Amino acid sequence: MLEYILGHHLKGEGKRLALMSELLDPMHRRHIESLGVVKPGARTLEVGCGNGSISAWLAQHVAPGGQAVAFDLDLSLVDVRAPCLDLRKGDIVAGPVNPGSFDLVTARAVLHHVADAEAAIANLVASLRPCGALLLIEPDFLPVSIAEPPEVRAFWDGWLEWSRERGIDYQIGRTLAPRLAALGLEQIGGTAETAIYNGGSAWADYWTLTITELRGDLVSSGKLNDTLVDMFLGYCADPTWWTQTIAFTAVHVRAPAAEQTASVDRSARFRI
Ligand SMILES: C[S@@+](CC[C@H](N)C(=O)[O-])C[C@H]1O[C@@H](n2cnc3c(N)ncnc32)[C@H](O)[C@@H]1O
Repeated sequence: MLEYILGHHLKGEGKRLALMSELLDPMHRRHIESLGVVKPGARTLEVGCGNGSISAWLAQHVAPGGQAVAFDLDLSLVDVRAPCLDLRKGDIVAGPVNPGSFDLVTARAVLHHVADAEAAIANLVASLRPCGALLLIEPDFLPVSIAEPPEVRAFWDGWLEWSRERGIDYQIGRTLAPRLAALGLEQIGGTAETAIYNGGSAWADYWTLTITELRGDLVSSGKLNDTLVDMFLGYCADPTWWTQTIAFTAVHVRAPAAEQTASVDRSARFRI
């Protein structure tokens, strides 16, 4: 497995995860609610749970009698505990979690960091019980192609080159549906939504924190320089600058009923 770049050892990771919870949990909860599978007694699995905010919410909604498994390579930043919450440390690339047992399996902002996303997705699918629902939410940096002014686009071009070299796939959002279809799954649907934000907002703070922490690696990679980084940080502090960065792509699918499970092809390749 490639080293996880934004690891929990980084000084700002706790704050970054808190900002992700603030910015993305409302959307994530809305998508989960629309699937209609989370109710008292249900079993849910969140892979790459980060600080555990979504798993804690799931634990409240499956009580009494249910189970919300929060699964991550590193559980050190999970600061929530609840009666139905079950924390498990592990790597989703290594295998499914309790195969065939969950009503809901979800992962947000995880697969773009995983070197073998194909294996991870197959393992997420294999963790579903028949007719269970899978919800994947991943970034797609498509909106940076229209970011203004041009030097901000130049900044993102360098960022994307750096991320490719580091094994991060910031265009994975667009591949989720075809990857699931290639597994033989049907009833796939999805949407993408993009925050429009200005300098000084919570999203701008997220980027300021992230870029400042990664600055040394970004510049030493040769993909960005100090001038571009300083320019970008300046825009992030300017309330008159408005922009869009990530299309968060949320794709959902149902596992086949028990009698159709054999039709899921875990060796298939996807095409876009
Ligand atoms: C960018 S954070 C996102 C956290 C949370 N899902 C959110 O959106 O706020 C990615 C998380 O995925 C976890 N992760 C990365 N690769 C993983 C793997 N192969 N198996 C399990 N968890 C993984 C990381 O430890 C980290 O907590």
